[in-house]
Amino acid sequence: MKTIGVVTSGGDAPGMNAAIRAVVRIAYSKGLNVLGFEKGWEGLMSNTFRELTPRSVGGIINLGGTILLTSRCQEFRAKNGTKKAAETLDLNNVEGFVVIGGDGSFKGACELSNETDALIVGIPATIDNDVFGTDETIGFDTAVNTAVAEIDKIRDTAISHERIFIVEVMGRTRGFLASTVGLTVGAEVILVPEEKYNIEETLKTIKANTAKGKRSGIIVAAEGVGDTQKLAEEIEKHTDADVKLSILGYVQRGGNPTARSRLLASLFADEAVRLLLQEQRSRIVGLQNGKITNIDLKKSCETRKPLDLSLLKLARVLAT
Ligand code: F6P
Repeated sequence: MKTIGVVTSGGDAPGMNAAIRAVVRIAYSKGLNVLGFEKGWEGLMSNTFRELTPRSVGGIINLGGTILLTSRCQEFRAKNGTKKAAETLDLNNVEGFVVIGGDGSFKGACELSNETDALIVGIPATIDNDVFGTDETIGFDTAVNTAVAEIDKIRDTAISHERIFIVEVMGRTRGFLASTVGLTVGAEVILVPEEKYNIEETLKTIKANTAKGKRSGIIVAAEGVGDTQKLAEEIEKHTDADVKLSILGYVQRGGNPTARSRLLASLFADEAVRLLLQEQRSRIVGLQNGKITNIDLKKSCETRKPLDLSLLKLARVLAT
């Protein structure tokens, strides 16, 4: 193997740059050239890439976003998109291809693996942490810390004005971000799509808290639970509480990666290049029980990662 490609795809996640840097430097140390395809799958549709060298990836370990840019590429998803991508890899003699992204990107990588002889390895990077085969994705820890810092500030206003704040966090259809953030900010209520949403339960908790003397509260809701504005109105209608909604939004995706996100990026990249050199086909790297591992790409795409509901149980006990 002489040349490998790398791409960042889907939503950006803090630590993607640290992963690019590590892939490039580890690959070079093994005598490989690295082509960085730009704007996610779009770069494979238009054959847009730049050669990455150990020097060209200097000074990026601490940067959020991705120097390669990213996108959610419709053309790739359309018929013949994967075929075109395979041709681009072939044209540039790319024998190994590293996809840094989330589950959507891995589904694309899976389809691409059916069309190309190039070996494909996925590095999980998404703030959603919803990739099967890894306990944690690159960027998750940073997003958790960002959300926690913001909610700590919101708590000041909640206490001072004796309000209830619903804070909506990202996570697409999953509740990994909401459950970890909820527990670590001491939220009174945590709502995730994995648990059936029940307004009565939430009202009961709020009324019980008021009876206990709590005069403010934080409800952390995953975006996947639905209309949080309506929820705020419902709570106001059925209690005496002054309820405000704060949607954290894209601040969760940006910013300097935490040390943990950078470490994970470096370790995942090391494993990814190792797999390519061993000529392993269609794998994703991951962290399982504290160890760096890898699993079949297709299996990762086809399996739903379970959310640990015991975290929510614990959070409820801690918020009493
Ligand atoms: O997958 C990361 C994520 O930030 C999700 O949490 C969110 O639902 C989605 O991306 C937003 O996507 P877009 O950047 O396309 O608006």
